[in-house]
Parts: sequence; structure tokens; C-alpha cells
Amino acid sequence: MIVLGIETSCDETSVGIIDDNKILVNEIFSQKIHSQFGGVVPELASRAHLQKILLILKDALKNANLTLNDINLVCSTAGPGLIGALIVGYCFGSGLSLAINRHFVPVNHIDGHIYSVFLNNEEIEFPYIALLVSGGNTALYFIEGFYKATLLGTTLDDAAGEAFDKVGKLLGLKYPAGAAIESLAKNGDENYHSFPVAVIQGKYDFSFSGIKTSVLRFIQRNFPDGMSEIDKANISASFQKAVIEALLLKTLSAVNEFKVKHVAIVGGVASNKYLQKKFCDSISTNIKLHVPEPSLCTDNGAMIAFAGLKSFETNYYSKAKITHPFPN
Ligand code: KG4
Repeated sequence: MIVLGIETSCDETSVGIIDDNKILVNEIFSQKIHSQFGGVVPELASRAHLQKILLILKDALKNANLTLNDINLVCSTAGPGLIGALIVGYCFGSGLSLAINRHFVPVNHIDGHIYSVFLNNEEIEFPYIALLVSGGNTALYFIEGFYKATLLGTTLDDAAGEAFDKVGKLLGLKYPAGAAIESLAKNGDENYHSFPVAVIQGKYDFSFSGIKTSVLRFIQRNFPDGMSEIDKANISASFQKAVIEALLLKTLSAVNEFKVKHVAIVGGVASNKYLQKKFCDSISTNIKLHVPEPSLCTDNGAMIAFAGLKSFETNYYSKAKITHPFPN
């Protein structure tokens, strides 16, 4: 089945087309306009989606050598995300489905991420633990099948990617800063300073707002006249280590409790090589780690198409809680 997926929940405008779990095309436009503001400006994101969405659909069809007639199913992200941004992709997708007389499947953005590992051409088996780490979400799931996912814990405040972005701002980096922090950290000493990560009551919950304040105070106290490149590298390495250790600790604990043989790390932060190495080094050899390739870690249309296809096949979409961007 040829499935079209549209993703506009935040600052990526993306159209993916898949044939079952094979990606035919995955066009992603990352909006650069926000970098000057240090974070995503919702109104600008909605406008940029509107300007780009039709062009991106045309590019996707051309690059996949398909026409609209070849599409069997249309899916759009319906939430969670920025409401104005979601409305663009939702209305575009539902209108398109009506025009070509195909079913329309609204997709939860998080389902898109947690099943994105199936597009990786790897053997992943249920049940698995999924750690979702992105700019908007940080959560752990126990996944027993398609649309059989149990939320184990979530961040009580900032998402891990958000912490990277906020600390990046303190270091004078542009938004989004995750990849730049990873690259700075390569030249730094991860044991330079021990930044504390809050210990949370909930067994699988996270908290990352405290560490950002701790980095801020550390910089104010020690570098009132500015930081050198090596100071920034040391802070980046120490900060990255603290965040990744917190993610690792809770994920390993879930792997042990649920006795799974597969673990997936998904979302924008999953593309961090230091995180991947730490996880690989820490899990036992009989447990398989799955990380989507970078274009599938970030927000993208192919993952929405795949989650939509599974929702359609299991008939989940007819009883799903998220049916449009304004659920009660
Ligand atoms: O999933 P994603 O594309 O979308 C949102 O949730 O918005 O994730 C983007 C997030 C940003 O916070 C970005 O700084 C972070 O992922 N990120 C990284 C890396 N690459 C992207 N964080 C740490 N290390 C990276 N290499």
C-alpha cells in the first residue's frame, strides 16, 4: 500500500511516501527562520508550513516518480504540537484525501516516533522499550505491539532536547543547539564539572529544568567576563554526560524490569553519537539497540505515514483519542 504522510507539528515541514515499510521518499524542510530567536516562534512556524507544504508535496511525488493517483492512504500529524502548525498539515492532508477520494488517518506525533524504528530495515521485535527523546518530548514506553504502548514515565518539566537547546543559548549557540553541543563536547572534558540531574519520585519520570539553571549559575559564577572555546567545550561535555546518564539509568532499569530483548531510542536527540555509544556500552550483548537513521530521528513525514498505515490496518484510528488538533 502506498501511503503519504504529512508532518507539520513544529518546525519541520515534511512529506514522506512509503510502500509498506519501504521509504520511497522523505522530504524534510527544517525551518531556519527560528534560529535568530533562540527557539520556535509558533506563528512563524505556521506561516512557513503554509508557504512550503504544496511545494514539498510536489517534490515528494516527483522524486518518488508517482502521481496523486498512486496514493492509497493519506495521513497527517494531528497532535501533539503547535496548534497553528498542526492545523496547516491536518487541513492540507484531509483536503487532499477528499480530493483524491482516499481514507484520511490522523496520527499522533509520538506514535510516529515510537514506531519509526520499523523503517530502519532492521529486525525489531515486540516487546521493546522505547525512549523518546526530542525537543518537545522525553518519555519511556513499553511497547507490546502496534498501538499497544504503555507510557512508563515522562519528563515533569523540560524535554532533554529542550535542555540542550537552552544550554546552547547560554553558550551562545544557535537554535537548535543539540548537534552543536555534541560537537563542542568532543573537545571537552566530561569530568570537568558534575552538573546535577534532579532525582524524581516517579520510577521512570525525568526532570531536566534544574540542570539548565545549574549550568546558568555555573557560568555566572565562574565566567562573568565570558568563556573561551575550551570552557564551552568542557561545559558542553559535562552537561551532555549528566543528561545522557539520567536517560540511560531509567531506560536500563525499564529494560531489566520488563525483560525485553530490544530497545529503541527515537526522536531528535537519538542522533547524538555519544548517547548511542553510552547505551551500546551499557546494555548486555543479548539486547539489541535500535536507533533510526538521522533523517528518521528528526520530525519527518515517513514516520507519520508508517504509524498511519499501522493505525489503518489495526483500525485504531477509528477509536483513537486524537482525531484532530483540538481534542477535548
Ligand atoms: O524530534 P525533533 O526533530 O523535533 C522536536 O521535538 O522539535 O528533535 C529536535 C531536538 C532539538 O532539541 C535538537 O537540539 C535535538 O533534537 N538534537 C540533538 C542532536 N540533534 C538534534 N540533541 C543532542 N544531540 C544531537 N546530536
